[in-house]
Amino acid sequence: MSRFMSGKRVVITGANSGIGWATACALVKMGAELILICRSQPKGLDAIDRIKTVEPDAVISLFKCDLSSQEDIQAVCGQLRSTYAHIDVLINNAGVYLAERRQTDDGLEQTFAVNHMAYFLMCRGLLSCLQAAPKGRIVNVSSFGHRLGSINFDDYNFERRRYSPMMAYCASKLMNVQFTRYLANQLVDDKVTVNCLHPGMVRSGFAVSQKDAFALLTRLAGAFLVSPERGARTSIHLATSPDVAQVSGEYYRSRKIVKPSRQARNMKQAEQLWQLSEALIRYDPCVPIAF
Ligand SMILES: NC(=O)c1ccc[n+]([C@@H]2O[C@H](COP(=O)([O-])OP(=O)(O)OC[C@H]3O[C@@H](n4cnc5c(N)ncnc54)[C@H](OP(=O)(O)O)[C@@H]3O)[C@@H](O)[C@H]2O)c1
Repeated sequence: MSRFMSGKRVVITGANSGIGWATACALVKMGAELILICRSQPKGLDAIDRIKTVEPDAVISLFKCDLSSQEDIQAVCGQLRSTYAHIDVLINNAGVYLAERRQTDDGLEQTFAVNHMAYFLMCRGLLSCLQAAPKGRIVNVSSFGHRLGSINFDDYNFERRRYSPMMAYCASKLMNVQFTRYLANQLVDDKVTVNCLHPGMVRSGFAVSQKDAFALLTRLAGAFLVSPERGARTSIHLATSPDVAQVSGEYYRSRKIVKPSRQARNMKQAEQLWQLSEALIRYDPCVPIAF
């Protein structure tokens, strides 16, 4: 495999399993330096060991961060800013499907916190490093499920209506597309690009530990789902291909631009989401804000 990612530094969240791990393996084979963001240190170290069986000379660092915690995200972004002068690619990949409603220490429903707020905060916290790279890229892993999603701005936290795992998940994946499109507009005069994608229906750790009908279906359908390696292809394409170097604000599937849902293209709602996300930041005033 060509090592054309030599000298490039890539941050990837949720890199210890599934699509994230397969993405990490492919990127080190291309020569990239990797920074893994994982919530469990043992799982992260195990992932590094497994990647090194593929590429023994790989340069890989592990940063521990629970992406449901704003404090953790701000701390890790601070550490990354002080350790690295630039970052070439940020891949927001970590995501959850939760059968039961859980609330984070920040008072947010956890699917919303991990699948949307963490993407927002990682981009915000690392934008200065991406801008310091010759051509920074952001890749947001969304889903086809965004088409089934809608955003209830009056109750994004599922406090006044019954929690539905599928509604929470699909709404968060719709947010990934709206956020990508809005951020691309914000960065229109910037060299940093941002795109999002659907990876396919992938056999991974996704939802399998959950106890509901969808999780059961996911387990039963295992044999019909694609491998994590195949699921990683579009993330890798967006992170590395010269063909997309100038492309920003698009939604991809199977390495091709696809029109996202009508709601995903609603820029008024995307602006509302942006404002809500900003209003929900609990930040340390000493931490510099990038946007
Ligand atoms: N699989 C599919 O068919 C499919 C389809 C469409 C979209 N996607 C998207 O693809 C992305 C990757 O999913 P996957 O299929 O590879 O699932 P996966 O195997 O379950 O991997 C998810 C990763 O996210 C990490 N993660 C979850 N919550 C976290 C938190 N609070 N802090 C830090 N890391 C956290 C997990 O860490 P732990 O190991 O510690 O839990 C794991 O490394 C997700 O965004 C998902 O929405 C998947």
